[in-house]
Amino acid sequence: MKNVKLGVNIDHIATLRQARKEKNPDTVEAARVVLSSGGDMVVMHLRGDRRHVQESDVERVRQDVKGLLHLEMAATPEMEKLALQFQPDSVCIVPELPDEVTTQGGLKVGGKLDGLEKIIRNLSESGIEVSLFVDPEPQFIRNARNLGADSIELCTSKYSESWGKKLQAKELERLELAACLVKELNMRLHAGHGLDYYNVVPVARIEGMDYLNIGFSIISRAMFVGLKSAVADMKRLIQ
Ligand code: PXP
Repeated sequence: MKNVKLGVNIDHIATLRQARKEKNPDTVEAARVVLSSGGDMVVMHLRGDRRHVQESDVERVRQDVKGLLHLEMAATPEMEKLALQFQPDSVCIVPELPDEVTTQGGLKVGGKLDGLEKIIRNLSESGIEVSLFVDPEPQFIRNARNLGADSIELCTSKYSESWGKKLQAKELERLELAACLVKELNMRLHAGHGLDYYNVVPVARIEGMDYLNIGFSIISRAMFVGLKSAVADMKRLIQ
């Protein structure tokens, strides 16, 4: 493992805050703790239904916290406008379904998606690095490159679900092969979804891995050991 970086998704800090719709726990405070405890980047998913992160969270974290901000968003005109307004350092375009509990797999990136291509171009031209969240399938990765994406975030949910089961080795191999292709295409390599303190190490060891983006397991652990330790423990595992 060579200096794999950690993006910490703080959506569920906002989930807890939204349970009471009060000020705490504050995402700005969480972002500062993440960045001072070994996290390399703060990740937030602004969903269409605003179930956790609100526009004011993204705005305040961007303005009040020194450090990298990575925004996950659906490819909609509304989100494109907000990303151009907030200017995160990078975005990851993800599929979004109204009733899903969490993101269900990656984007099915086709060859001719004019809308997506335009959003990628507009974000790139304003200086935002763009990644697409895709399943580890060669065609989706090639299509993402052709549409102008800078980075690929490989969806690790199938791998995470297979942990401890027969399919685990096969799912890890799919990620490894997809990672090879991403690097061959000279793109930056991210991975995430469902990664935890048990299953993360084989993914962190994949050659060329730049960033792992992890949320739920870190915030869950933070309930018991605090956010500072939860972030530092994960960073130690992936380095
Ligand atoms: N990457 C992407 C694109 C995601 O949508 C999410 C969930 O918001 C994550 C990573 C983090 O997943 P988890 O919360 O399971 O660690």
